[in-house]
Amino acid sequence: MQVTIIGNGNMAKGIGTRLIEGGHKVTIHAKDQTKGKELAQLLEQDHQDIKVGVETIGSNPEDIIIIAIPFGEVESVAQKYNGFAGKVVVDITNPVDFNTFQLLPERGESGAEEISKLLPNAKVVKAFNTTLAGTLVAGKVEDKELDVFIASDDQDAKEKITELVKTSDMRPIDVGPLSESRHLEGFGLIQMKIQDQIGTNWMSALKFLG
Ligand SMILES: NC(=O)c1ccc[n+]([C@@H]2O[C@H](COP(=O)([O-])OP(=O)(O)OC[C@H]3O[C@@H](n4cnc5c(N)ncnc54)[C@H](OP(=O)(O)O)[C@@H]3O)[C@@H](O)[C@H]2O)c1
Repeated sequence: MQVTIIGNGNMAKGIGTRLIEGGHKVTIHAKDQTKGKELAQLLEQDHQDIKVGVETIGSNPEDIIIIAIPFGEVESVAQKYNGFAGKVVVDITNPVDFNTFQLLPERGESGAEEISKLLPNAKVVKAFNTTLAGTLVAGKVEDKELDVFIASDDQDAKEKITELVKTSDMRPIDVGPLSESRHLEGFGLIQMKIQDQIGTNWMSALKFLG
């Protein structure tokens, strides 16, 4: 599949690594071209046979867009790219107020639903918000594949992301409609809060076993 990742930070690197290993074509789209090229080169170095570029967003009609930037920045990016009309857009954000360590949306609401309102003509999928960046680079935790929880109201888009995750050697888990993102974002918040306590240095994974 053709995937554009917006951002050049930790999650862009982690998701990019997994998708490239899965044989997908990844384009890094960064606001700072130099930083974007640096990440593209890093991904290329590890995977000589794959082309990673810094291109115009959504240049391919099949593009899946993964927004790997802070929640608060999504609105400006959405405006810049005209709402990603017709695209499958994956929201990976954890909408957290880092002063209070609480979720930003009103109780009962989710960041993914807020993003979906900003992108009324896109097919929004919540995924990857509970997979920590370092574990995505590593690929496995304790030799077990990563669970990726997926929520969306668009069945076709959900199936596409499910396939993307599966072919990238992770386990997709369908948690239902986009409104379930509020629980995924809660998981994401708790995972952040307990990092010091569990002492795994941000290399833990939320996974269902048994
Ligand atoms: N880190 C994790 O383990 C983890 C796990 C699950 C979910 N998440 C979520 O994933 C998202 C990215 O996290 P991260 O850890 O990758 O953060 P990060 O390493 O700080 O990277 C953030 C990226 O966003 C870019 N960016 C910021 N504002 C932008 C804008 N207006 N337009 C375009 N790009 C912009 C930054 O570019 P510059 O460097 O040029 O500023 C940077 O490349 C966040 O929403 C986070 O909640 C993170």
